[in-house]
Amino acid sequence: MKTVTLSTLQAFKRAGESFSCLTAYDASFARAASDAGIEVLLVGDSLGMVLQGHASTLPVTLEEICYHTRCAARGKGASLLMVDLPFMGNASTERLLENAGELMRAGAELVKVEGEAWMAEGIRELTRRGVPVCAHLGLTPQTVYQLGGYKVQGREAERATQILEDARTLVAAGASVILLECVPASLGRAVTEALDVPVIGIGAGPDTDGQILVMHDVLNVTAGRKPRFVKNFMADADDIQGAFRRYHEDVKARRFPAEEHCF
Ligand code: KIV
Repeated sequence: MKTVTLSTLQAFKRAGESFSCLTAYDASFARAASDAGIEVLLVGDSLGMVLQGHASTLPVTLEEICYHTRCAARGKGASLLMVDLPFMGNASTERLLENAGELMRAGAELVKVEGEAWMAEGIRELTRRGVPVCAHLGLTPQTVYQLGGYKVQGREAERATQILEDARTLVAAGASVILLECVPASLGRAVTEALDVPVIGIGAGPDTDGQILVMHDVLNVTAGRKPRFVKNFMADADDIQGAFRRYHEDVKARRFPAEEHCF
């Protein structure tokens, strides 16, 4: 695989070619995912749940994310490395800039921030300073207590319109990528069609430009009830590498997500 950059993702969007993304928190799994052809790796704050065993992503610290970023960066190969800004990392613009700087120094190539239209100012300041940003909309796990749980967002017309408008605002502020989590497939399609930047979906239907899953869900090692949008790719694979390859191929061929994974 040639080194994946933001330009690669933009070219995929223009060509209508889907791309695959997966979380990775260390060098070994980052290497396995990259070798399988997965174009974007995410050091997600989901590590708080799948590695640390917390009930949410909120306890994850900047130091912990930086540690896992340094690990994943050593194995990422040609994949693009996206990294989550942890909870309250955007408590002020000053703090946002400092924290994003730490993430970039640790090896991030794209910083993912949660937040709606109010994040526009912070995104403008980041991109002005050369930090590429992915804006995460829809179900934003860092606000799970405010949202009242891990629920599908944008089922009602008003909220769907708000998500679409927020996406437009954040792209206008400089966001290079939008990530949409847990929204109806119709909204995933509408946002993807409305924007000229790549849109990555998780539980956002088959029409987003790219798809992302948490590695532990792909490997079926997540405890408890599984969200509708995940798929166990170990079921038809002999080993981890095979599961990653199958996930990548199914995303590229737009076989995943299927109807049963959508809202
Ligand atoms: O932290 C994470 O893994 C994420 C994905 C669910 C997109 O944000």
